[in-house]
Amino acid sequence: MFNFPLPRIDSDDELRSLLLPYSRLNAGEIWYDPLNKHKVGCIDATDNASIKKIFNDEKAVLAIHDPPYNFVAFEEREILTFIEWCRKWVKNSFDFSAENSSLYVWLGADQNKHFQPLPDFIIMMRESGFKSRSFISMRNQRGYGTQQNWMSIRQELLYYIKGKPEFNIEAEYTDIPKILNGYYKTVNGEETDNFERSKSKFIRAGNIWVDVQQVFYRMEENVNGCYVQKPLKAINRIIQSASSKNDLVIDFFAHSGSTLLSSEINERRCYTTDIDPVYCEIAIRRLENYRSSGKTGWQNLNPFAEEILNDKKLRDHLSNKYDYNFELISSKTDAY
Ligand SMILES: C[S@@+](CC[C@H](N)C(=O)[O-])C[C@H]1O[C@@H](n2cnc3c(N)ncnc32)[C@H](O)[C@@H]1O
Repeated sequence: MFNFPLPRIDSDDELRSLLLPYSRLNAGEIWYDPLNKHKVGCIDATDNASIKKIFNDEKAVLAIHDPPYNFVAFEEREILTFIEWCRKWVKNSFDFSAENSSLYVWLGADQNKHFQPLPDFIIMMRESGFKSRSFISMRNQRGYGTQQNWMSIRQELLYYIKGKPEFNIEAEYTDIPKILNGYYKTVNGEETDNFERSKSKFIRAGNIWVDVQQVFYRMEENVNGCYVQKPLKAINRIIQSASSKNDLVIDFFAHSGSTLLSSEINERRCYTTDIDPVYCEIAIRRLENYRSSGKTGWQNLNPFAEEILNDKKLRDHLSNKYDYNFELISSKTDAY
């Protein structure tokens, strides 16, 4: 398989600054999608005035946020500072959510630090105006841990509501066939089993999602350069369960643009923001690439491949720091 990935942009400042000139948005700017009316803003999620600019008077039916988690891969902040930071973007999300709407938040729990920031975040949410609805765990295939502990393979997903939003139950079914007979119950005097009573041949996802493949480099949806991409299957499930066609979906932490792309695929409109112009660019390119090629990501190629091949500074950086062989890459891209 032809291999031309991009290293993690967040841990390489020089790479990031070399990619900046290819990013069409500057801080505070908004990209308006002429085709399906999505918007991507290079905006700080805590900045109420800038968030207001992206919404005008509109309100979202569904918010899906995936903030930096405050541990492991991210710059560590004091937990209280982190929670105060969360309070600000949660308030913005509340203010720009419709009367009847849903909020999903992905958040981690550091098992070596009293599971922060999950419990702190949950307590803060009591005063947010949202009502708690479900606590979902998604199973990852890979994880972290040692030989002396259970491997950590969970991704937590908190589900809140405002008012009485829709919940489309069909989206809750997995593609895992039911195989176990049982759960007998008498209905109208007749003993029935679960196969007879159930609406579907497939099991429900419930609040433990075991059927979602974590994104890795062999999957078409993989976006090299990003490091915390959420699987489209999970985002599709959320969008299909909590919104209808043409509804407005928001995501304040775009990164690889998974919510934007899932909104496009499911015929919703998406307003998404990221504080970093490079991730805004990646999100927009992912949408454009999907429209022109039908592909959901770049697998083991990357969103800036063409620029890198034509930019000596980028090529030098990648060859010097990561041993990229551009003679080989160029010969393969010619044939590609
Ligand atoms: C965990 S990633 C989101 C991953 C995303 N769900 C996906 O599937 O690709 C978090 C993103 O939040 C962005 N970010 C960090 N602080 C921000 C802020 N104050 N406002 C907006 N975006 C921010 C980072 O640049 C990063 O791209």
